[in-house]
Amino acid sequence: MEKQELLYEGKAKKVYTTQDPKLLIVAYKDDATAFNGQKKGTIHGKGAINNRMTNLLMDRLEREGIPTHLVEELSGRETLVKKVSIIPVEVIVRNIAAGSFSKRYGVEEGVVFDAPTLEFSYKNDDLGDPLLNDDHALALGLASREELALIRKYSLNVNRLLREIWGACGITLVDFKVEFGRLEDGTIVLADEISPDTCRLWNSKTLERMDKDRFRRDLGGVEEAYVQVMNRLTGGL
Ligand code: TMP
Ligand code: ASP
Repeated sequence: MEKQELLYEGKAKKVYTTQDPKLLIVAYKDDATAFNGQKKGTIHGKGAINNRMTNLLMDRLEREGIPTHLVEELSGRETLVKKVSIIPVEVIVRNIAAGSFSKRYGVEEGVVFDAPTLEFSYKNDDLGDPLLNDDHALALGLASREELALIRKYSLNVNRLLREIWGACGITLVDFKVEFGRLEDGTIVLADEISPDTCRLWNSKTLERMDKDRFRRDLGGVEEAYVQVMNRLTGGL
């Protein structure tokens, strides 16, 4: 399968059409942005790591009963995926307070929740991805009540499985963001990526940040953290 036309270019990935109208090719870039694109930079080698890591994790999730868009990895940076229409709802699952949760509610980073918390935000850069509850998502016609319930169930299962996978590598899954899409027949599948760009991953022993927060907060050692997370995953899977 080969790339035809560039269909869409996002902040971290490009999406191309293929000869098959039901399949697309995703190409991962080294570009990194934060704060809704206000901060821009490059994380060398990130594209290849995020491609591989997303595919390893999606393959594992698929085998555990979570439908995904993954078809097959084509090369270091490129993957063949099923064409979906992305539901413009970002699903964030949190196990430990951090980031915007800590800021919004005045809770110190590192406070462990009794149970995972799930939040939705409207995937809309112009509006700054505002928080959404189920009623807002319904009012905006983003998804049906049944779809939201399924998305919630899949996301909590993804959290349970990812916590196990990362835990086995000595990494604590603090929080993450996922996106879902609809296939032509309406089936909901996990789409987008699962990587240190979209997860907060802390070294379980030292609590050191091993994810994109190193870039967001200018902590240094960004590339090294991505490489280390990848090495731990391939050693531990
Ligand atoms: P937050 O605490 O900034 O809301 O981020 C929660 C999680 O979502 C964190 O793991 C990083 C991820 N995330 C994205 O993948 N994309 C985004 O645009 C943002 C803001 C966060
Ligand atoms: N990727 C997001 C952006 O550039 C934000 C983030 O990951 O912090 O807006």
